[in-house]
Amino acid sequence: MSQHTVTLTDNKTGKTIELPVVEGTHGPPAIDVSKLYREAGFFTYDPGFLSTASCTSQLTFIDGNKGQLLYRGYPIEQLAEKSNFLEVAYLLLYGHLPKPTEYDNFEHVIMHHTMFNETVKNFFDGFRYDAHPMAIMVGVVGSLSAFYHDSTDVNNAVHREIAAHRLIAKMPTIAAASYKHSIGEPFIYPRNDLSYTGNLLHMLFATPCEPYEVNPVAERALDILFILHADHEQNASTSTVRLSGSSGADPFACVSSGIASLWGPAHGGANEEVLKMLDEIGDVKHIDKYIAKAKDKDDPFRLMGFGHRVYKNYDPRAKLIRQTCYDVLESLKINDPMFELAMRLEEIARSDEYFIKRNLYPNVDFYSGIIYKALGIPTNMFTVMFAIARTAGWISHWTEMIGDPAHRIGRPRQIYNGAAMRDFVMPEDR
Ligand code: SDX
Repeated sequence: MSQHTVTLTDNKTGKTIELPVVEGTHGPPAIDVSKLYREAGFFTYDPGFLSTASCTSQLTFIDGNKGQLLYRGYPIEQLAEKSNFLEVAYLLLYGHLPKPTEYDNFEHVIMHHTMFNETVKNFFDGFRYDAHPMAIMVGVVGSLSAFYHDSTDVNNAVHREIAAHRLIAKMPTIAAASYKHSIGEPFIYPRNDLSYTGNLLHMLFATPCEPYEVNPVAERALDILFILHADHEQNASTSTVRLSGSSGADPFACVSSGIASLWGPAHGGANEEVLKMLDEIGDVKHIDKYIAKAKDKDDPFRLMGFGHRVYKNYDPRAKLIRQTCYDVLESLKINDPMFELAMRLEEIARSDEYFIKRNLYPNVDFYSGIIYKALGIPTNMFTVMFAIARTAGWISHWTEMIGDPAHRIGRPRQIYNGAAMRDFVMPEDR
C-alpha cells in the first residue's frame, strides 16, 4: 500500500508540498511536518499544542472523546481494581506487568532506597516553617543532583535505572519530611517493612512518642489514587520533564522541573484549589452564584477540578476517584458535607448548557482532595501527593526518551511579531 500522505498548497504561490502521515496503535493520524521548514519555508503554529504530537511514546494512551485511559495498553479501570502502585510503576518503566519474582525484586529495591542522604536534612532548615511543601519539593528533589554522582551518566542504561529507582523510592520520604517541617515535628525515618503507601502514611503521621498503626483503608485508598495519578501522556509537567531532559540534564533536576510545572493551579495544583473553592462555596445554596461566576468571561474564577484539554467526556479517573471517595468516607465513617457539595456542584454544572456545550466534566482533581482530607492530609500537601505518583510517569517518559538513540534536543520555533529591525539610538537622541 502506498505511503499515506497529505498535500498542502500555498494559495499565494500555488506551490504544493506532500507530507507523510504517521499512524500510531490507537488515536488520530499525524502529519509529519519535520521537513516543512526545510523544504517549504513554513513553520507550523499551535500555541498550547492543541493539535501537536511532540513525540511518539509507548507508555500511555488517552481517548478524550471516549474517556479512555490505558497504561501500556491496560485500561485504568482494571489497573485500579487489580493492581497496586508499585506494580503500575514497574509497568510504566519496563513495559510489561512483572512476574511475581520481578515484582518482589522491584519492591525490594524501591523499599530499600527510601532514605535520603542524611545531609539532605540540612536543606529543610533553610525553609521557613510555613513554606509551601511544593516549593520545598522543587528545591530538595533538585538538590539530589548534587548527591548521586554515581548515576548521572544519562547515556548509561544502568545509571538511568538507578536514578529512576531512587526517585520513585525517595519522593515519599522527601514529601513526608516537607510536611513534618511545616508542622515542626521531627522527621520519621522510612520503614522498609511497610508497603509503599503504608510507609508514606507512617512517615507523615507517626511520631517518636508512640507506635503508629497504618490504617489499611487509607493505605489502599492512597494506592488507588497513586495508580490513577501515575501517568497521563504529554501533560504540561511530563512535557516539561521531557524538554528539560532532552538537553541531557540530570534526571533529578528534570523531575524537579516537572514538580514546578505540576504545581500550577491549571494543572496539578487544581486539587488544592478545589478544596479551597468548595470551602468558599460553603453551602449548596451558593452553588448557582459560583456557576455564574465560572461562566462570566469578565470573572477570572473557574470551576476548579472541571474541564480538561484532552477529555471531552468524563475523565475516567474522576469516576474512579468519586467511587473511592464514597468508599473511604463510608469505611472511615466520615460524614464530610464537602462530598455532598461536590456531587451537587457536579450535578448542577453538568446540567448547564455552558458546561455541556464545552464538554466540561470533572477531572482527576475534582474529588481527590476530599479523600486526602479524609486521610488527614492537609490541603497544601495535595499536589505533593500528585507529584509522588506522577514521578513514576515522569521518570518513565524520561527513560523512554533518553533511551531512544534518535532523540534530539527539543527546540520549538516561534512567530516573531516584535519590532522590525531598527538602528540603535544614542541616549541624547531619544
Ligand atoms: C490536570 O493535561 C493533563 O493530562 C493534566 C492532568 C494530568 O493528569 O496530568 O489531567 C491533570 O491538570 C487536570 C486539570 C486540572 N485543572 C483544573 O481543574 C483547572 C480548571 N480547568 C481549566 O483551567 C481548564 O479546563 C484546563 C486548564 C484544565 C484546560 O484548559 P484548555 O484545554 O486550555 O481549555 P480552555 O481554557 O481553552 O477552555 C475551553 C473553554 C473556554 O471557554 P470559551 O473561551 O470557549 O468560551 O471552556 C472554558 C474556557 O473558559 N472552561 C472553563 C473551565 N475550563 C474550561 N470555564 C469554567 N470553569 C472551568 N474549569
